[in-house]
Amino acid sequence: MNYVIHKSDGDITLDIRRPNENDFDAYCKFIQQIATETCFTFHYVGEPEINRARQLELWAAPHRYTVAAFDGDVMVGYTCLYATNPGHPYLGHNGGLHTYILQKYTGVGLGTRLHELHAAHVKDLGIKRISVNVHADNVANLALLHKQGFITESVARGRYFVNGEYVDCCNLVKWYE
Ligand SMILES: CC(C)(COP(=O)(O)OP(=O)(O)OC[C@H]1O[C@@H](n2cnc3c(N)ncnc32)[C@H](O)[C@@H]1OP(=O)(O)O)[C@@H](O)C(=O)NCCC(=O)NCCS
Repeated sequence: MNYVIHKSDGDITLDIRRPNENDFDAYCKFIQQIATETCFTFHYVGEPEINRARQLELWAAPHRYTVAAFDGDVMVGYTCLYATNPGHPYLGHNGGLHTYILQKYTGVGLGTRLHELHAAHVKDLGIKRISVNVHADNVANLALLHKQGFITESVARGRYFVNGEYVDCCNLVKWYE
């Protein structure tokens, strides 16, 4: 689907869709760029190469819902909602979520749009409780998640070590009935 973002230097029409095997190279480039732009994701400069077969398996897995935004051939945003313990009798209702957007495309509503898209799939994945770990200084993601109805459930002191400093981790949770 097309989604128009409004930038100060003009509108950009993005294509938002589920990624497939033809998007693997774009995904690798995207992850490399995200790793250079922010310390707020799991990815880091110099991490091991992404395994193609494993990644395609993840995109196709029934307990995951992934959507990416493209500006032409370039992947510029990515969100994945997943059941953390699919089918488990005690833990099957738990889920996680991560959303990454290239810096140039942040702050213009794309994160909100990606959240709206995956919220529609929570029930399909059998999830009721979504939990997200966020760096305590990630104001944009905290604002986005709070706006989407997540609440801070706990704070883990010094869970991250970034640029020589320990940073707290906020665990935000949302229940879906
Ligand atoms: C966090 C992230 C997903 C947010 O997406 P986004 O497209 O920038 O967010 P949106 O433009 O949809 O804004 C959503 C809300 O967040 C808030 N927000 C966004 N950027 C903000 C900023 N820099 N400072 C404070 N609040 C901000 C706004 O309140 C906005 O609500 P509004 O529309 O009422 O103004 C995106 O910035 C990103 O990918 N950052 C780098 C990677 C990252 O931190 N990922 C999360 C890992 S857990």
